[in-house]
Amino acid sequence: MTENDFRFTAITPLPAMGAVTWQSPSNIALVKYWGKYGNQMPANPSLSFTLSHCHTKTTLRYSKSETVGKEIEFDILLDGVAVPDFKPKVAQFFERILPYCPYVGQYSYTIETSNSFPHSSGIASSASGMSALALCVLSIEREMRPEMTDDYFYDKASFLARLGSGSACRSILGPLVVWGQHTDIPNSDQLLGSVYPFEVHEVFANFQDTILLVDKGEKQVSSTVGHGLMNGHAFAKARFEQAPKNISALTDILKSGDLDGFIALVESEALTLHAMMMSSHPYFILMKPNTLEIINAIWAFRKETGIKLCFTLDAGANVHLLYPKNVAGQVLTFVSDTLAAFCKNGEYINDEVGLGAKQLA
Ligand code: DP6
Repeated sequence: MTENDFRFTAITPLPAMGAVTWQSPSNIALVKYWGKYGNQMPANPSLSFTLSHCHTKTTLRYSKSETVGKEIEFDILLDGVAVPDFKPKVAQFFERILPYCPYVGQYSYTIETSNSFPHSSGIASSASGMSALALCVLSIEREMRPEMTDDYFYDKASFLARLGSGSACRSILGPLVVWGQHTDIPNSDQLLGSVYPFEVHEVFANFQDTILLVDKGEKQVSSTVGHGLMNGHAFAKARFEQAPKNISALTDILKSGDLDGFIALVESEALTLHAMMMSSHPYFILMKPNTLEIINAIWAFRKETGIKLCFTLDAGANVHLLYPKNVAGQVLTFVSDTLAAFCKNGEYINDEVGLGAKQLA
């Protein structure tokens, strides 16, 4: 696809007003996106599981604006309460998508949003939030172009979501999504996320993700600053070469169901992400002491029981536990007996792999 494929140029009468609601999930990367250039282009391809229970529900109400040509007017509410803090990111999103969705400038909006997880949980809401908003916007376009195919709809939704937040482009569909060009993956694209096209062993169906909330609250490093740390990073080149190789290795692992290979690759990706942050300038340690306690406890548990449980991390202190559904009983006992003690207020969230966003109204 090229950017031009996503420019809406038809002159059609615009609906005067309307409302649309989408629910969009979070996702967890197995091979991480860390580093970007230009207009939200990833420095390396990434591959993620789409989640199911952690999601954002967004209603977009739109009505023709009196003040066309000026800044796009919108109010944004989280759980019914105005959140001016969210405005700059959403304003930037509208600005970035305007060349592809010029009708966006003709309306003013009320955006009502809510998350299934606590806002302060430290779970990134940008992926689920931006993908839900992108889907709402594109639903306006679909009203004007009813002939639009589902494939085009989901491709453009992912393309728009990427402009809001890179990882959001991986939250439209599921269960596994690849974003960024990879020589061995047909249809993989810098501009959007697409469903992983190869065979996946049944052991990965319904894979579980228990998110241990180690540190809640504001992110220490915003993702934009974080990605910027890869510019001029001493190890950037090696990292950008390693990620596609890891995706190739994961392709074999996903096909054969090799859980030991999966564990080794996924944990290494998580620690590499953090190693990049620890070795950048300025440098950051985003793990907390309890993150390390949890990692050590997982390794001891695995050694003792042989249960194929592993972890991954995002750019923060929380730990995602990944495991097959058939060991959920033992893992959840381990979580409540041992790991919950390392979580803030003992809190964790049980999630699992899902199939992507849903239109609710
Ligand atoms: C560590 O998608 O939040 O979660 O494009 O600047 O919005 P922006 O970044 P964002 O970065 C997420 C990075 C990550 C790894 C990943 O999800 O691949």
